[in-house]
Amino acid sequence: LDNGLALTPIMGWLHWARFMCNVDCDADPDNCISERLFMQMADVMVKEGWRDAGYEYVCLDDCWPSRRRDASGGLQADPARFPGGIKRLADYVHSKGLKLGIYSDVGAETCAGYPGSLDHYEKDAQTFADWGVDLLKFDGCNMKWTRLAEGYRNMSRALNATGSRMVYSCEWPLYEWDFHKPNYTAVRETCNQWRNYADVYDSWSSVKSIAEWTALHQDAVAPWAGPGGWNDPDMLVIGNYGLSHDQQESQMALWALMAAPLLMSNDLRSLCPRAKALLQNRRVIAINQDPLGRQGYRTATLGSFEVWERPLSNRVLAVAVRNKQEIGGPQKLPIVKVPGWRTCGSLCNVTQILPQYKELGVQRQRTDLAVAVNPSGVVLLTFHPILD
Ligand code: GLA
Repeated sequence: LDNGLALTPIMGWLHWARFMCNVDCDADPDNCISERLFMQMADVMVKEGWRDAGYEYVCLDDCWPSRRRDASGGLQADPARFPGGIKRLADYVHSKGLKLGIYSDVGAETCAGYPGSLDHYEKDAQTFADWGVDLLKFDGCNMKWTRLAEGYRNMSRALNATGSRMVYSCEWPLYEWDFHKPNYTAVRETCNQWRNYADVYDSWSSVKSIAEWTALHQDAVAPWAGPGGWNDPDMLVIGNYGLSHDQQESQMALWALMAAPLLMSNDLRSLCPRAKALLQNRRVIAINQDPLGRQGYRTATLGSFEVWERPLSNRVLAVAVRNKQEIGGPQKLPIVKVPGWRTCGSLCNVTQILPQYKELGVQRQRTDLAVAVNPSGVVLLTFHPILD
């Protein structure tokens, strides 16, 4: 969507995968969906370097609204959980130098059964604009699939008509793939980012399946990514319970190569230092945020290895080598097996970004350099041609 936003994939935090639809603030005041949760996340994002690392959007997902619209037909936050209302929360988040994201649905109800925006697109867009919201995640539950295109486009127009600029995050293709191949020309014109595939869960099987879906459909989806519009493989679940550290590195590397929005869903108030260092790794973030904005591809499957490559600006190539074997120890792959290796030229400067930063030096075309990759882990590299 050409609205001047999301020129690189957006970065921030979204509540769903970690906090879901926890609305029981009496029993669980620290983890329920309430203004307190978002204010605390915003505080931590400033205090612990998240904002400075580039994580900017603090986003509400489902279950924030009251079950009822107000007297004038407007959406309103649940009054018990958001006593200050969304406008005050947006002001608070803005005062910290961050942005606020909100959630609604193209149909009459959200996926969790809260009021959706059907028949209220203009009204809701104006409400979000009046509150100072900076992003809308627009879900696709409870809508006949043949009406998705019309609904998503009408909301895009309604947001534009408010005159406020909001990142428009869509789930439109996800809900269409069951029936036919989505019209990505229209999706890219309408949205700043779009989900294509199932929700991420806090498990390695979920993260793997998202990467696999993306690789199997890469010719249909990857060419559409670029400044202003991105494929969204869903949230980063790094820092939760389900992934080993190697698997967390795999998710981070793959999301960087897929030019994915980096929306963490974890508890920033109590994150283990290793997960924090990974999520704040400035070199990985720089790959994700590369200004060229081209999405990477899976370029090879070699035995138990898989290679993903993404062209970056300044002729740099980012390469992720994944070891898919989930038994045994580290396995070695010679870098001459990476398809893009030969394009690097007769002298190529190789840098390892993950697991640890390491200068692997200037290598000749016929180098015997190999990388050792842990089971279900990744080695993330850059190749930089040395021109003479
Ligand atoms: C759908 C979306 C999720 C989340 C939930 C909320 O499943 O795909 O990302 O927003 O709805 O109910």
